[in-house]
Amino acid sequence: MSDTATIPNAAMTTQEVVEWTKKLNYGTWKYQKSWNPMHVVDAEGCYFTDANGKRYFDLSSQLMCSNLGHKNPAVIQAIVDQAQKLPYILPGYATDARVELSRLLLDVLPEGLTKFFFTTSGTEANEAAFKIARMYTGKTKIVARYRSYHGSTMASIGATGDPRRWAMEPRGKGQGFVFAPEVNCYKCPIKHTYPECGIACADYLEHMIRNESDVAAVIVEPVVGTNGVLVPPKEYMPKLREICDRHGVLLIADEVMTGWGRTGAWFCMDHWGVKPDILVTAKGITSAYVPLGLCATTGKIAEYFEDHFFAHGHTYEAHPMTLAPAVATIHEMQRLDLVNRSKEMGKYLGEKLNALKPKHPSIGEVRGLGLFWALEMVKDQQTKAPFNTMQDKVDGKMAVVEKVAGDMLKRGVAVQAWISHFVIAPPLIVEKSELDFAIDVLDQSLAIADAAINT
Ligand SMILES: Cc1ncc(COP(=O)(O)O)c(C=O)c1O
Repeated sequence: MSDTATIPNAAMTTQEVVEWTKKLNYGTWKYQKSWNPMHVVDAEGCYFTDANGKRYFDLSSQLMCSNLGHKNPAVIQAIVDQAQKLPYILPGYATDARVELSRLLLDVLPEGLTKFFFTTSGTEANEAAFKIARMYTGKTKIVARYRSYHGSTMASIGATGDPRRWAMEPRGKGQGFVFAPEVNCYKCPIKHTYPECGIACADYLEHMIRNESDVAAVIVEPVVGTNGVLVPPKEYMPKLREICDRHGVLLIADEVMTGWGRTGAWFCMDHWGVKPDILVTAKGITSAYVPLGLCATTGKIAEYFEDHFFAHGHTYEAHPMTLAPAVATIHEMQRLDLVNRSKEMGKYLGEKLNALKPKHPSIGEVRGLGLFWALEMVKDQQTKAPFNTMQDKVDGKMAVVEKVAGDMLKRGVAVQAWISHFVIAPPLIVEKSELDFAIDVLDQSLAIADAAINT
């Protein structure tokens, strides 16, 4: 590749496409010199295809977002139809797509969420949630948890507990976020044991609210996603709801990853019958065909803004091209009964993953809900010591789980690896035979982690 003056216009070789991409674009969350992107040219169903024609089974739905799989004809048609009808109009106008989606949302969201703000990402939806919570309560602080990811902008990275925040400490992050311990019964951060603990991690959070003062909201991923698919015990979320009510603090459910059938319910909070004051989602809302995020609030919060200035908005808010495919996505989910399918196939996937544990000394825990699972990898099952740490991640050190994922890719399966675990979340349309193939590949590649135990 030569300099930018000779950028070719005609078809490029794969090597050129990769090299130009690296030269002209940023790769996210990494040292740039370590970025070596695959040239992807096609995707269909649960597979995507590279420029050499090799197909990969997608065991993590890209970024846990391609829930319907790729090239769903109904969603594609909705995009075409909307482009022909009304590709853009400023968000101050009413549109058919907007009202159609909003009315459908009333059917699928947890009860009580009746007013909607549409964004173009999960990050922006969280930004809206924080601003709404602060405007509505007149208070400032947001309690988040250490094992969390809420987005990449100043406020949402400020609310993020995981090490992606560290590089922005403190200069590049919004202020007013404080961190509580996560709920993690495998490795409890406050060294308790469930159920004798009585959900002490929630008590600790209440202690924080009492001692911080000025707390507007608590934000939780109902099942923590990227940071390990941490499923709370059944008492946690109802207890958190009570705590928030007792202190006049809003409860924000970040369902960017857990929404849209991923956990075997339309929304993860449905598992516990807990109603958040604000629910944020994105990703699966359009099965990632177009960028859409949603910040949904209760009628009570909405009522407040009848007589108070709603100080928020975007040019692309409620963009018609993002809303029409969301309508089609919901209809497709209903037609294919994907929420129940996630529950059923999730049981099958869980059994298959649990069957790996006795074979691999490197597996610490298998956990999940619906079609949302993690394998936590350890170098010692007794001490639960991980192969890699958060510090390794920010130091750019290649993790053992990344080596396993690299080997799986060679064998035709793509999986998300993060620090010392895998996030296993195939498209909700997945077939049993596809899971058999992918878990067989995982089984083989885990030999790399088993061998790394004594290194
Ligand atoms: C729980 C959660 N919240 C927020 C976000 C940010 O969403 P986006 O990447 O669409 O901005 C993510 C992204 O992975 C997420 O998993």
